[in-house]
Parts: sequence; C-alpha cells; structure tokens
Amino acid sequence: MARSLTLTVVEARSLPDARCWLVVAEPSLARDMRPGQYVLLRCDEPDDWSRPLPRALFMAATQPLLGQLALVFDIDDAGLAWLARRRPGTTITAYGPLGRAVLPTSGRLALLVDEPRLLAPMLALAHARVSRDAVTLVLVDINLPGFVLPADVEVQQHAGSLAHCFADQAWSDTVLRWADGIVLATRNDVGAQAGAAIQRARLRWSRGFALWLLDRPLVCGSGACGVCRTQTRRGSHLPCVAGIGIDLKELT
Ligand code: FES
Repeated sequence: MARSLTLTVVEARSLPDARCWLVVAEPSLARDMRPGQYVLLRCDEPDDWSRPLPRALFMAATQPLLGQLALVFDIDDAGLAWLARRRPGTTITAYGPLGRAVLPTSGRLALLVDEPRLLAPMLALAHARVSRDAVTLVLVDINLPGFVLPADVEVQQHAGSLAHCFADQAWSDTVLRWADGIVLATRNDVGAQAGAAIQRARLRWSRGFALWLLDRPLVCGSGACGVCRTQTRRGSHLPCVAGIGIDLKELT
C-alpha cells in the first residue's frame, strides 16, 4: 500500500551517458517493491517549491536484507540533476510503492530494451528472475558497468535500435524461439514489427508471451489526472495504477 516515505541516500554513482545509480535505504520499501513498481520523489530542497511536480522512478534492484533499493535514471532535467547530487546520509521525501508489478510468463525470459527511461524495471526483472530462470538482457545503445547487472544474466549489446534487431530475421528467430516469454521496452513503435517476428518464429503466440512496457508520464500516481491514459484493444488503460506492463496483443 502506498505511503509517505523518507528515503536515506546510501550512494549516488554516475553511469555512462549522463545516467545515475542511486541507492537508498527504506526497509519496508526494499521488502515490498516489485519490478515495474515506482515511487514519486520530491526533487527539491524542503523549503523550495520551484519544482512542485514529483519525479516517478522505477526500482532497479532491491536488497531486502540490507533494507536498500536502487533506482536508475537519466539525468535529463533539473530535478533529476538535483537528485543525482544527493550525498550519503541526506534524505528524500517520497510516496509509494505505486503501480502494479510486471509479471512475465515463467521460464526462459528475454528482456529487450532500447528505451533508457525503462531501463530500471528491466534490470529489476533481470535481478528478480535470474535466480530461478535463464535470463537474456538485450541492451540496444545502452552502456552499463558490470556492477549494475545481476550475475548470471546473459547480456547482449547491440547498436542502433530494436527495430534494427527485429529486421535481422536470424537474430530475432533465435531469441524468440529460445524464450518462453519476452518483455519489450522500446523508444520506437515496433509493435507491429515485433508481432510479425513472433508469428514468423513461433508456431503459437499465446497470450502473455510478449509484454510491452508503456513509457508514459506518471504524474499523479493515482489515476486522477489522465495524463498517462493509453488506448488498448480492451479500452482505456492507466499505467500509473494498472501497471506499465501490457500484453503486446492488446496493442497490435
Ligand atoms: S499519471 Fe495521472 S492518471 Fe496516470
């Protein structure tokens, strides 16, 4: 259940391409958060309201025994730059956890990402699943140091975009036949392309095989403002409350 939180900064590390790995301590959050869930953080000094809108950040990894969790974000606005400058021991006001967990089908999992804004939930899925299932993480135009990645996950690095990857039939057939489920986090509208590749590679495309992570502004976190509203085959979907993961069949 979402609640007001005080996060204590443990460390903030710079990643390549103006990205930040922020570790915070909040034991109940570290225990409760699931991949695909997020927190709203107030990114301003306590007595300054020049940035009134909170920033929505997804969990990238948790360490429940330490009471810590990690957030990953691109430093692409003044609020997030402020957040990346927090020193160990400082506190941040937040609200969460919000949203619904992303639940891919069980078995071998392929995580395909070329949208850095959705990197954190993909890392969280890799961390959560790799202890019991084989996981392949496909990073397209995203550079990460080794400490961010879970041990035992297979990482593929590609240049270009996921659209380029799906255009390579040998590559997409191999990945889509190996996997029992895939999750897509992409900056391009490759839904139709991904659907065609799945139908070509597999005899049967069952519901739940391919999840798409929606990249929408998460402003209110409560379903009240309507900013994140997405139309699907089943009607209107509010990812801020109903979750960012949606079956690709609902979108294509
Ligand atoms: S962010 Fe306000 S309704 Fe989804």
